[in-house]
Amino acid sequence: MFNPYLPYPVRIKEVRVETEDKSLKSFWLEFMKPEDAEAFKYTPGQFAELSVSGYGEIPIGIASSPTEGKDLLFTVNKVGCVTSKLHNMQAGEVMGVRGPLGNHYPFDRMEGKDIVIVAGGFAVTTLRSTVVYMLHPDNRDRFGKITFIYGARTPGMLLYENEWSEWQKRDDIDCHITVDQEFPGWEGLVGFVPTVTEQVAPKPDNAIALICGPPIMIRFTQPVFDKLGWQPEQIVMSLENRMKCGIGICGRCNVGPEYVCKDGPVFTKAQLDQMPKEY
Ligand SMILES: Cc1cc2nc3c(=O)[nH]c(=O)nc-3n(C[C@H](O)[C@H](O)[C@H](O)COP(=O)(O)OP(=O)(O)OC[C@H]3O[C@@H](n4cnc5c(N)ncnc54)[C@H](O)[C@@H]3O)c2cc1C
Ligand code: FES
Repeated sequence: MFNPYLPYPVRIKEVRVETEDKSLKSFWLEFMKPEDAEAFKYTPGQFAELSVSGYGEIPIGIASSPTEGKDLLFTVNKVGCVTSKLHNMQAGEVMGVRGPLGNHYPFDRMEGKDIVIVAGGFAVTTLRSTVVYMLHPDNRDRFGKITFIYGARTPGMLLYENEWSEWQKRDDIDCHITVDQEFPGWEGLVGFVPTVTEQVAPKPDNAIALICGPPIMIRFTQPVFDKLGWQPEQIVMSLENRMKCGIGICGRCNVGPEYVCKDGPVFTKAQLDQMPKEY
């Protein structure tokens, strides 16, 4: 019988240090049983519970795209018990993955529209998944113009440089990569994400924006979209509330009547405006 609490065993295939301060590492995980890989069908925006025996289980957004094959990518910020243990693990070690969990970005609604992606810091994880998915030859025609605005404090804190430096060479995605202030050797944009968004001025006509970042970035980015004439239904965000079960049973994550783990983590701004400000 299917047990929703049972993780799939996975082996760490590759560990990559993402940032100069080593606070963020990416883990490529491979399923140990082909049938588990087959069963784990996900869509960008979803998350999974990563488990490390003896340490615990944590929700982490899926950073890979299903168009990249069966292996899964997660990028983990070292903040506490489980994330610190994960940071000490090496390729070859075994851990667990439970999921995929939660809802995903609204690709049905996004079809035929221009897509604006705004990301700050390490909240870019599921947006990496989304961009890789949309740029895949099977999917690219389903979406209009893609604009990607991504910022971090310093050049050394930007994730996924291999990916976005390739995207910058393409003519079917408009990339704006920025850092908070001037740095020796940095030739890209300088300025906070909301300021760059205002300069890029994405048009709301037939468009959807996906915005993920730290609360301060969200707080200053929302008024930019308001000023540019975007409606709350056109803006999509992802929440990172504390979670336990991840499947709508324990009641750890709810905001008003919504279970962030099950009804979310992806919500439109119109939905968030109706919810108590507990997120
Ligand atoms: C849907 C979802 C997706 C997420 N995606 C990612 C991701 O892609 N990469 C990533 O690095 N992290 C992500 N997180 C956050 C991640 O789950 C927490 O950082 C992790 O659970 C901390 O585990 P720990 O055992 O190391 O920390 P703990 O030892 O439990 O706590 C260490 C510190 O982190 C704080 N903390 C714990 N959980 C959270 C949380 N959910 N939000 C804010 N602070 C918290 C604690 O209060 C404490 O100060 C996501 C969370 C959710 C809900
Ligand atoms: S984490 Fe248990 S109900 Fe959402």
